[in-house]
Amino acid sequence: MASWVVATDESTLKEGEPADYEIAGEKVLLIKKNGEIFAINNNCPHMNCPFTGGKLEDYTLFCPCHEWAFDIRTGEYLVAPRLKTPVYETKVEDGNIFVLL
Ligand code: FES
Repeated sequence: MASWVVATDESTLKEGEPADYEIAGEKVLLIKKNGEIFAINNNCPHMNCPFTGGKLEDYTLFCPCHEWAFDIRTGEYLVAPRLKTPVYETKVEDGNIFVLL
C-alpha cells in the first residue's frame, strides 16, 4: 500500500536542478520545474542507467547514458510513450517534500 514518505526539506531543491534521493529504499529523482515538484524513478528503462546528471529541457529529461528523452510529468519515453519509467505524486507540507511511494 502506498504511503507518503518525507524526502527532503523543500529549500534544498533548486528550480531546474534535478537531485537524486533514496527514499524508503527507492531511487528517486526530484525535480522542481516552474515551482512544481516532480518525482521520477531514477532508473532508465533502457539499460538501467540512473538519470542523475541528465540534461533537463523544459519538461524533458535526457538520460545521460544514451540521450533517451522522458517527460518528467508522465515518465513516458517521448519516442514510444508505451515505454515509461514510474513517476510518483508529491506534496509539500511544513516545508518538507513528501513522495507517495
Ligand atoms: S540507459 Fe538511458 S538511454 Fe540508455
